[in-house]
Amino acid sequence: MSRFWSPLVHRLTPYVPGEQPRIANLIKLNTNELPYGPSPRALAALREAADDTLRLYPDPEALALRTALGQRVGLDPSHVFVGNGSDEVLAHAFQAFFGHGEAVLFADVTYSFYKVYCGLYSLPYRLVPLDGAMRVGVDDYTGPCGGIVLANPNAPTGMALDLAEIRRLLERHPDRVVLVDEAYVDFGAQSAASLVPDYPNLLVVQTFSKSRALAGLRVGFAFGQPELIEGLTRIKDSFNSYPLDRLAQAGAQASVEDEAWLKQCVEQVIASRTQLSAGLEALGFDVLPSCANFVYTRHPNREAVELAARLREKAIIVRHLKGERTEAWLRITVGTDGQCQALLDALREILHRNS
Ligand SMILES: Cc1ncc(COP(=O)(O)O)c(C=O)c1O
Repeated sequence: MSRFWSPLVHRLTPYVPGEQPRIANLIKLNTNELPYGPSPRALAALREAADDTLRLYPDPEALALRTALGQRVGLDPSHVFVGNGSDEVLAHAFQAFFGHGEAVLFADVTYSFYKVYCGLYSLPYRLVPLDGAMRVGVDDYTGPCGGIVLANPNAPTGMALDLAEIRRLLERHPDRVVLVDEAYVDFGAQSAASLVPDYPNLLVVQTFSKSRALAGLRVGFAFGQPELIEGLTRIKDSFNSYPLDRLAQAGAQASVEDEAWLKQCVEQVIASRTQLSAGLEALGFDVLPSCANFVYTRHPNREAVELAARLREKAIIVRHLKGERTEAWLRITVGTDGQCQALLDALREILHRNS
């Protein structure tokens, strides 16, 4: 608390990101990064961009990157927005589209940053409970609202809706923006990007942080019809005209152009996820069916918080989220096969020791 803070700053409850601890030989399965490095073409482009031109400002419109992103899904750059991580894109979207006075709707168990943006921009919100199987029920998103946010696949559950359900939501709320946060879509869900030409109220947000292994570069993007992109651009240009530096634009563009690398990484993660889920089930865990690069799991008779603490003693970090509905669960990032095996071995030992 400080007398220098504005009333807004006093009211804020900021997001708490997963830890980035400095522990030797750490197995880090807590923030859903990829265990593999980015595309070698992206790394080469980054090195090449690190030259004297860094004295110049970057392209404020990031046109080459937006063009490359759009081409991948058949949209021209007027349908593409880029920002400093998808967190920034999401923040701009909340500010640009949700201030209609009615509550923004999102799931009670979902990405916890959504509440934080509502706090930052003084937006009312209503949590829509997941059903008993931890699924999003599209029919529960009824009544007047200021907008809808849907993580698809959802985080931390990893479960996804199909496009028919997303369409239903879009059609039920034609006068409100439906924001589909696809941070994990490449790991097995259907992207709503193909629906953009049909729905002026759809904004699809994605990131380079997960499937493209570039969390450290901070690049996120959105697809939407030009009036939504213009709304986001108006916020961006009232906040920071250059959210993506020269390195980020060059590295991200080369990453988009290396489709083969993306495919190879994603296939490997999906194969490891299948093995990890089977290994956890063999140890007695319940595991939700995941379309993401993490699994959400609980043990019927072990406290999740306790398991996370025991794993930490063995230098394995997973994510436990406090809260009534998440207390029993652990979110575990899919690592390399070796990391997943080390996790399973550690859990076996912990369960055995306490039984
Ligand atoms: C559902 C979801 N959306 C968005 C983000 C933000 O990703 P970034 O800002 O790295 O693009 C995350 C990060 O973990 C996430 O889980």
